[in-house]
Amino acid sequence: MKQSFVCTALVACSNWALGHAAALQADAHNYWLRLCTDCVPRELVHAPGVGFSLSTSSGTAAVRFHNGTIAPVARVVGSLEYQELMFHLADDPPSWPLNPWERLKDELRKAKRRLNKSRGLPATPEVGTLSSMIEALRNETESFLGHNVTSVVVSVPSLPTLRQGHEHIEDVQDAVEYAGLEALRPELEEIQAGFAGYGLGLCKHYVDIEACYRERLDMKMSDVLALSYDRYSLTLSRTLLTTPLRQRVQAHFAGDWSLGRQVLDTDLYWRAHPTEYWGTIGEFIYNKGTYRRPESIDVVLLLGECAADPDFIEVLQDVFRGSGRMTSPYYSHVLSGTASLGGQTNQGRLSANDTLYMAAKGAAEIAKRVQEAPPGCREPEFCRGNREDPEAFLVKQEL
Ligand SMILES: *[C@@H]1O[C@H](CO)[C@@H](O)[C@H](O)[C@H]1NC(C)=O
Ligand SMILES: *[C@@H]1O[C@H](CO)[C@@H](O)[C@H](O)[C@H]1NC(C)=O
Ligand SMILES: *[C@@H]1O[C@H](CO)[C@@H](O)[C@H](O)[C@H]1NC(C)=O
Ligand SMILES: *[C@@H]1O[C@H](CO)[C@@H](O)[C@H](O)[C@H]1NC(C)=O
Ligand SMILES: *[C@@H]1O[C@H](CO)[C@@H](O)[C@H](O)[C@H]1NC(C)=O
Repeated sequence: MKQSFVCTALVACSNWALGHAAALQADAHNYWLRLCTDCVPRELVHAPGVGFSLSTSSGTAAVRFHNGTIAPVARVVGSLEYQELMFHLADDPPSWPLNPWERLKDELRKAKRRLNKSRGLPATPEVGTLSSMIEALRNETESFLGHNVTSVVVSVPSLPTLRQGHEHIEDVQDAVEYAGLEALRPELEEIQAGFAGYGLGLCKHYVDIEACYRERLDMKMSDVLALSYDRYSLTLSRTLLTTPLRQRVQAHFAGDWSLGRQVLDTDLYWRAHPTEYWGTIGEFIYNKGTYRRPESIDVVLLLGECAADPDFIEVLQDVFRGSGRMTSPYYSHVLSGTASLGGQTNQGRLSANDTLYMAAKGAAEIAKRVQEAPPGCREPEFCRGNREDPEAFLVKQEL
């Protein structure tokens, strides 16, 4: 069961990397061990990985260096159009083209998008809004690094309308392209990026695809609840994850835009009744996030700039108290407000910056791994040796 799940994930991941892979072994048990058709250039192995996270109200960027350090780069507050777009995306029912008529309309819609793109315009007005955000993040990252950024991994809120295959994820994909960037892999949901940001479900030996595969066999599947809390909204998603790299996540999602942290300052009623505000937050999390067997939740991911707020963490402790899970290591990490960050255990309390940048850091970690080790194929033995010799890497290696 577990084995077949891992294989599916690997095969799915390798689909987009087929350009790099040649199927060598037809053996059913080893079919993931393809040999790559070329070596990863030395520059790419050493290049920092860049991750962007789009939240419902802002965007964040982080960089993962070759030495393992993950640095927060910048936060860009979303324009009014950006925030409204996210709000509407949360409201929109996700749609699949089903009958022939709907499929025809979908083709027409795609043709119109292509027409705009061929004129050098954003495919849709939404693409324009999203690409301004992505371009701003790119600009910040370029001035942080001091050189151009060409490829990224992007994470998006776990909204059902932003799933792979839906119309609006095309807007994100086109926006990345319009901002002059290449996406290293399909967009991650925030819950996946957060999982990676907290250092969960990641292989130690990610460059060695076989070792990584064996590590994955020992990984436990976790029932994950991600809470994203900032000044403007509280959203949550819940799903089962073994590694952050699953293709179609389909997390359960819920969001409330009237419970953002700012209402404690701006709303007269909540300002006078803060206890009631925190009670409402607790009810929302309990009703929407733990709707199914709260005691089976293994991991709680705190994301967003207000998620490390001590009052918020106290509410969470109340919600989960009595579920008998408070002793699990993840719980004691997360709910005591500490966490293992990017593989380095941070004994201090989580800060607002930690939770704010967590998803972008996870995306950056994954970007670094994808750059360094193409998913779905194994480098020929000589690649590592060749990389020691810079001359050999002035030209792209061909088998
Ligand atoms: C890792 O590299 C970055 C960029 O070169 C540098 O700023 C950072 O201090 C390094 N970290 C360690 C632990 O060496
Ligand atoms: C194409 O661009 C125009 C101008 O920005 C916009 O009004 C129109 O809605 C776009 N087409 C689609 C299919 O969104
Ligand atoms: C990004 O930088 C370019 C060039 O410096 C500039 O033209 C553009 O307006 C900037 N974009 C944003 C969104 O800040
Ligand atoms: C960086 O990108 C800008 C345009 O975005 C381009 O004009 C410039 O030549 C690039 N620099 C390098 C070193 O590639
Ligand atoms: C949060 O991170 C930003 C960007 O790196 C930095 O400028 C700011 O000082 C940090 N704030 C705190 C409280 O550490």
